[in-house]
Amino acid sequence: MMIKYNLILFLLISSIYHIVGGEKNSTLKFPNNFLFGVSTSAYQIEGGNADIYGKGENWWDYNIKKNSYIITDRSNADIACDSFHKYRNDIELLKFLGVKFYRFSISWSRILPNGHSNKINMQGINYYNDLINSLLRNGIEPMITMYHRDLPQSLQELGGWANPYLAYYFEDYARILFTYFGDRVKYWITFNSWCHGYGDNTDPPFLNQPDIAHYLCQNVLLLAHAKVYHLYDQVFRQRQRGMVGITLEKAWIEPLTNSTEDLEAAERARQFTFGIAANPIFHPDGDYPEIVKKRVLEHSKKQGYLRSRLPELSKEEVEFVQGTYDFLGLNYYTTFLVENNNSSTDDLGINKYQKEDWQKSASSWLKGYPVGLRKILNWIKNSYDNPDVFITENGFSDHGQLNDTERIYYLKKHLEEVLKAIHEDKVSVRGYAVWSLLDNFEWMQGYSEKFGLFHVDFKDPNRPRTTKLSSKWYKKVISAKTPEVVDYL
Ligand SMILES: *[C@@H]1O[C@H](CO)[C@@H](O)[C@H](O)[C@H]1NC(C)=O
Ligand SMILES: *[C@@H]1O[C@H](CO)[C@@H](O)[C@H](O)[C@H]1NC(C)=O
Ligand SMILES: *[C@@H]1O[C@H](CO)[C@@H](O)[C@H](O)[C@H]1NC(C)=O
Ligand SMILES: *[C@@H]1O[C@H](CO)[C@@H](O)[C@H](O)[C@H]1NC(C)=O
Ligand SMILES: *[C@@H]1O[C@H](CO)[C@@H](O)[C@H](O)[C@H]1NC(C)=O
Repeated sequence: MMIKYNLILFLLISSIYHIVGGEKNSTLKFPNNFLFGVSTSAYQIEGGNADIYGKGENWWDYNIKKNSYIITDRSNADIACDSFHKYRNDIELLKFLGVKFYRFSISWSRILPNGHSNKINMQGINYYNDLINSLLRNGIEPMITMYHRDLPQSLQELGGWANPYLAYYFEDYARILFTYFGDRVKYWITFNSWCHGYGDNTDPPFLNQPDIAHYLCQNVLLLAHAKVYHLYDQVFRQRQRGMVGITLEKAWIEPLTNSTEDLEAAERARQFTFGIAANPIFHPDGDYPEIVKKRVLEHSKKQGYLRSRLPELSKEEVEFVQGTYDFLGLNYYTTFLVENNNSSTDDLGINKYQKEDWQKSASSWLKGYPVGLRKILNWIKNSYDNPDVFITENGFSDHGQLNDTERIYYLKKHLEEVLKAIHEDKVSVRGYAVWSLLDNFEWMQGYSEKFGLFHVDFKDPNRPRTTKLSSKWYKKVISAKTPEVVDYL
């Protein structure tokens, strides 16, 4: 009798559990202190490139002027979204959404036209001061990226991020930013994205040297980041009480099959892409990952080099870089499946794929794989010391339609995975920002791929902004603290 009773009770409970099961995750909510935001970057939205504003030339200005054919649609960013003039309008959009923070970047060559600290462009300082003050007046925290893929051309002519002195120049630039803005800005990100155009040919400076320039750049960025972190600690932190982090833009990587070979190849690929930047900063032991050091050294020797093509970090440098973070910024968009390839000639030795049935976007590299976000968050938690994470970018490209249901689907699925990472896996995710507030200048793709929550009419000189369905959806998500919202029309 007792057994029977227990069985009935069990069936009853499990069927109730089953019925509400579908609701279970839909009732998961973001914590009250979770921060929702949106992201942009200076070169992609500002415009205001004319000489009259005092801005110097960066490597985009330089390369596009030299050859407009490098941009898919032959466009340029001279006006872009004209946020240099229309930032008050942008702030109205941020207020509509109800975001707690706005992540934007500062244009180095707008502040320091020749890249160096001897000549400050006050029109640039005034612009960012107005932007910061207007945000704060409206209850929106500025989160500032110091460097978002736009190096002053004068510094590239000195070798750019392959020149170790860039770490000193970046520190000078950062000192100026802390000095002018740090009294009001509490979230700083040194770098966004790593070394585009050094190991590949798809961005300025188009060096396409994966064997050499790519590693030099990794090395200089690490030291530049660490210098700025220490500068903040030594000079500014006590008075300004902000946080300094770094953003890593990486895909998640999964093995193509469960063979030992592919499992190893997948972890190796994570270390060559994510670990090479994260390990020296976030791992308790610091330094580059062992597997990266070992393979590059072995290959270098075989190829006749007298030293590893990956610059070694000295013991002092390892200590200098380790622990230089208050949070980790993560840009997540997509995932790759990886298999081992013994005959590949590069250091990594893999082939990579994406599945055809993943959600397609307007960008060839971007296919939706939401669970990849939960997995990379777990990998970060387990590989490092469970750092505080801000998802500083996550977003979807289409062709600019206002009824952007595909974007909503993508964002919803990804936010569901973030909720599971927070509640089930106990990953310390503190905030999330959609890329992007506006349709913008999408680098080499010009205006042909659209990531905005708001549409921008690039044919109209006034660059009017229009609400898309996704902006109404995101507004609801922010107020409801869950992606399971319905009545957003
Ligand atoms: C809830 O979670 C279950 C299991 O993780 C999943 O199968 C289901 O699709 C989820 N429901 C929603 C609405 O996301
Ligand atoms: C590999 O194993 C995991 C865990 O058992 C499983 O979830 C996954 O589907 C497998 N992957 C492949 C490609 O077979
Ligand atoms: C690749 O090399 C490893 C180690 O030498 C070996 O175990 C493996 O069988 C090779 N794989 C293929 C597909 O040849
Ligand atoms: C392995 O890499 C080599 C050299 O890059 C390439 O030619 C080959 O196609 C790759 N193998 C596969 C299976 O893709
Ligand atoms: C938006 O698109 C969806 C799916 O294509 C469609 O069901 C819906 O009616 C459209 N809404 C509007 C307002 O056009």
